[in-house]
Formats: sequence, structure tokens, C-alpha cells
Amino acid sequence: MKNIYLFGNWKMYLDYQESVDWAKQLKERVLELPEHVVSVVFPSSVALHRVGEVLKDSGVAVGAQNICWVEKGAYTGEVSAATYRSLGAMYALVGHSERRHIFHESNHEVRQKIEAALAHGLTPVVCVGETLAERKEGVIDETIEAQLRAAFAHLTINGGSVIVAYEPVWAINTGEACDPNEAERVHALIKRLVAGLCPSLADVPVLYGGSVNAENIDGFLAQESVDGVLVGAGSVKPDTWGNLVSTVCA
Ligand code: PGA
Repeated sequence: MKNIYLFGNWKMYLDYQESVDWAKQLKERVLELPEHVVSVVFPSSVALHRVGEVLKDSGVAVGAQNICWVEKGAYTGEVSAATYRSLGAMYALVGHSERRHIFHESNHEVRQKIEAALAHGLTPVVCVGETLAERKEGVIDETIEAQLRAAFAHLTINGGSVIVAYEPVWAINTGEACDPNEAERVHALIKRLVAGLCPSLADVPVLYGGSVNAENIDGFLAQESVDGVLVGAGSVKPDTWGNLVSTVCA
């Protein structure tokens, strides 16, 4: 059976105690995750270890929202992939649009972070997506291709896995999700491009992110090239997340 990915990006929505409390509630809800459902939550860096302990044996893994590309050194405020791995993380978001646009992360930095994640046993979840201006200009495919080329051209993969998330910037946290047919078109493009750039990633899982909720998730999961969803705001709302879990488990 094909895997379905249900990922929750908690962003900076919850403080430490709220993160731990939410993880405890979540554990009660997800005891019955079927084998083919891969679920990961991305808590705040300070809560990641404790959330991982709470979710131990629940089938839900934890991941970092961001990593530094360097292992150790004079990088004030940064946390390395190796440190996150030692704290229990198995995944890392890389190049989330809020990192790219608020913190000016470049395609080059994204590439370095992908390499750091893979070198330290984390699965990078590489986020790509066009802005509204790029969509209006009609350069969606070119934007995605440039992001993927920087991320994957000549990338050497010695074991480990990679996931891509298509997150159109204009759909994130706006309540205006992408049309599922358009998401399918872009996902198919992403799979083709990644396979061409890096043959060892022949069938990379591609998740859709951007205003996913309990009402629209079915439309995305019905698409052939949509392997799952990356949910932001809805991942910290008990009712929404509960409904999303029920949908992917159905
Ligand atoms: P959203 O965020 O679900 O709140 O739109 C998605 C994301 O940023 O990963």
C-alpha cells in the first residue's frame, strides 16, 4: 500500500508547555496509526526533545523546523543537524518559505542544509513553491525548477531519504489553498524534475502544503502525485488535526 504522509509544522504557535501538552493529547489520538501512514510533527526547537519523549512508541516522529548547515562553530543562535539528531529528530524541514522569505535563506543555503541533514541521518523535507507575483507572471515552473536544480543537481545520496513539499507561498496561512488539480500538475513536474536531477530519487514523495484543512484534504489525497500533506495552523488545532488524522487513516 502506498504511504500517506501527514506532517504537522507547529511553527512558533506553541510555547514549551503548550507543545508538551499538545503532544500528550496527540499521543492519545494516534495510537492506531496504520503502517502506511507516516506522521511527523515539527515542534519548536526547545520542545523537540521532550515532545519526542512523549510521542515515543506512538508511531509519530519528530523533526526540526530548521537546521544549520555547519556541525559546530561560531554560529550564534543556530542548531546543527547533528544536535537535532542526537535529540531524537528524524526529519528536518529545509527551505520552508518562511525561512526563505522572512529570513532570506537562499537556494544555496537550502542545498547546504540538505547535505547536512543527509550527512547526519535526518530526512530533509525540502520545501519549494512560487510567490503570488511569480504565479501572476506565469513563471511557476521556472521558479520550481530553479529551486529544485539548486537543491538536487549532482547531489550524492549514500542512503537516507528525501521528501519534497510543494508549498505555494501565497497559499500558506491564507486560507486559500491551491486547486488540487493544479497541485497535481506541479507535483508531477516536481517528481519528473527531481528524478532527472538526481536519479537515486526516482520516486520522491511530494507533499502538498498551504491552508490544508479537514474540508480540503480529500481533494489533495485523491491526486496521483500527492503523497501527503504538510499542515501548519491546522496541526495545532485539536479538532482539525483530529479530523486530518481520521481522514488519512480511513
Ligand atoms: P498552513 O502552513 O497550513 O498554516 O497554511 C503550511 C506550512 O507552512 O507548512
